[in-house]
Amino acid sequence: MEFYKNIIRPLLFKLPPETAHTFTTTAFRNASIWKLWNTINRITDERLKLSIAGISLDNPIGLAAGFDKNCLFLSGIRSLGFGYIVGGTVTLNPRPGNKYPRLFRNTKDKALINALGFPNVGAKEVVRNIQRNPSSPAIISISGLTVGEFVECAKLIDPLVQGLELNISSPNTVGLRIFHKIETFRNLIQNINRARNKPLFVKLPPYYDSESQHLTFQIIKASLEEGIDGFSVANTIPVKDKRLGVGSGGVSGKPLFETMVRMVQEIRQEIGLRLVINGCGGIFTSDDAIKTFLAGADTVQIYTGLVYEGPSILFKINQGLLHYLTEHKLKNIALVKGY
Ligand SMILES: Cc1cc2nc3c(=O)[nH]c(=O)nc-3n(C[C@H](O)[C@H](O)[C@H](O)COP(=O)(O)O)c2cc1C
Repeated sequence: MEFYKNIIRPLLFKLPPETAHTFTTTAFRNASIWKLWNTINRITDERLKLSIAGISLDNPIGLAAGFDKNCLFLSGIRSLGFGYIVGGTVTLNPRPGNKYPRLFRNTKDKALINALGFPNVGAKEVVRNIQRNPSSPAIISISGLTVGEFVECAKLIDPLVQGLELNISSPNTVGLRIFHKIETFRNLIQNINRARNKPLFVKLPPYYDSESQHLTFQIIKASLEEGIDGFSVANTIPVKDKRLGVGSGGVSGKPLFETMVRMVQEIRQEIGLRLVINGCGGIFTSDDAIKTFLAGADTVQIYTGLVYEGPSILFKINQGLLHYLTEHKLKNIALVKGY
């Protein structure tokens, strides 16, 4: 079980992070290997099943957006034991992303710092990738610099997937901040709502002071008024870092955890039971996942934890969740929240 941490991770961490990512993801393209992994390591249990916005999940753990940007290995990576995958972020037209270097590890803090800026092959090519390599349930993260770009992208992707996640919160893409103006954001949701048939999630920016909190709650209020299905909480925290080609980026991993749990709790208090919350930020263990559910999340999403802990993270978290359910005599995972 510790093969990844003792052998694979030290080798991967000798490579530059983007090279290590490409190397790892090439392995995920061979879906049959991972189906075999799945038969050995899979945890299936009725108690872990749940439904979010009408999407049925085998368990409440999702892969966060950004790992499979071009949707090339959705089914291989789902076989690790994820309940769902968030592919993308995809934009209407191909994008090269930001200037290199744009990804660093901060191993001491179990964190990553990225300023990728949505490198992706564009929505038309992603549609072909999903058709060649379908996986369900898949939610695809989309973005754009104009309402029109978002809408065209949504129209192409929506028929092939189970849900859409709007990324208006990446700190690494110049131009996305226009959607933090509430009227522009409202206009975006109205237009996406006309274009979509599938559930819609909005990925929120993290808040870390009263100004950013005010902005996030304005986005939440407008989302409730216009009609969406849930929030993914949250994206990376903006930082300045001279090592990055563009001088600033976003932190993910352990340093996000406390902020994320507090956000989930405050947002759940604000919205009541109405919508889904996917907690995302620094989840490495089943204890982390349980704290996030207790704060009011329905599911959790993982990115950095997978990089540091390796593929067995899914087995370990799902197993930990089952122990918790048994210990607390709970019939299913949705009851962890206490309502
Ligand atoms: C290298 C990298 C690339 C990312 N790319 C995206 C992206 O394309 N779209 C998005 O919404 N979030 C993206 N994220 C943010 C993650 O989806 C997630 O919100 C964040 O990393 C916090 O979760 P974690 O601590 O489990 O990594 C990216 C994160 C990392 C580390």
